[in-house]
Amino acid sequence: MQHGHVSVLHTEVLALLAPRPGETVLDCTLGLGGHATTFLNVTAPDGLLIGLDADSVNLTEARKRLQPYGSRLETHCMNFRDALTVLTHPVDIVFADLGLSSPHLDDPERGFTFRTNAPLDMRYDRSTGESAAELLLSSSVEQITKVLREFGEIQRSHQLAKELHLHFHSDTRSLSDWKTDDVVQCVEKVFTYRAPKVLPQVFQALRIAVNDELGAVTSLLDTLPRLLNPGGRVGIISYHSLEDRLVKHAFRTLSTPEIDERTGQVSTAASWELVTRKAVTPSAQELEGNPRSRSAKFRVLRRVPRA
Ligand SMILES: C[S@@+](CC[C@H](N)C(=O)[O-])C[C@H]1O[C@@H](n2cnc3c(N)ncnc32)[C@H](O)[C@@H]1O
Repeated sequence: MQHGHVSVLHTEVLALLAPRPGETVLDCTLGLGGHATTFLNVTAPDGLLIGLDADSVNLTEARKRLQPYGSRLETHCMNFRDALTVLTHPVDIVFADLGLSSPHLDDPERGFTFRTNAPLDMRYDRSTGESAAELLLSSSVEQITKVLREFGEIQRSHQLAKELHLHFHSDTRSLSDWKTDDVVQCVEKVFTYRAPKVLPQVFQALRIAVNDELGAVTSLLDTLPRLLNPGGRVGIISYHSLEDRLVKHAFRTLSTPEIDERTGQVSTAASWELVTRKAVTPSAQELEGNPRSRSAKFRVLRRVPRA
């Protein structure tokens, strides 16, 4: 299948991360290689791009597209939470464009959208972990409520969780027979005419839980000091407030100097500095051309170079 994905905040990523010839870039979410192509062009002639993606379908397509860059490209099919395991040296740029790509939504077999009836999967990496159907089949009402409330910020989470639990325990089908429409029916039953508004939040909540998206971002943020060279930059594009909050908080913590409680003076200067004080969002022109970019928020942090 020919995939399409329009890279988000392209100009801003280039301007704020400012890749230079010869630098090494870790692209944690290679996707179809849109941002990676730019990184490879700007770091020519000898810069290296290490691209990761948990989704083997996207990774195969990206490898094909980026083949002309030869040995300047290294790819790994893996979760970026384990990025440290494939790096032999710290890099100059860490970039992550979180979440799902357009092919995920467009592929009727993946179950990421409520718009087409499909197997209820939602995993980026289909070789491991529980699908959304398995998650609903193995969770208690309380656990489902927590997912809906925390990751979807859904009102009446408990009521919907009860409905989903009842529905998913009402018959014994084989796993592949559970479909996205099973979730849609439950949402429609509980929310009636308000269902169209709630469905995106429900699917988002399940996707975040299935892929442990917040856990993966937290691990990535925790390992930044070991991933980046002095003078290096990290840029993260997030698409929902829960992720953006994690990024904002981690960047703020890293860039805050230590204060001596006794004197109130700076005791240790921060070794990181914020490049973006506020999240950067798409321009009106980008929004018009790519409505899927509407929730994007981009933050950049720089590791202070050694004196
Ligand atoms: C928004 S797309 C990236 C698009 C890419 N920047 C481009 O321009 O083509 C996000 C990609 O990250 C992958 N992904 C999401 N979470 C991941 C994780 N924890 N580890 C590795 N890859 C992940 C998805 O499979 C998807 O291909």
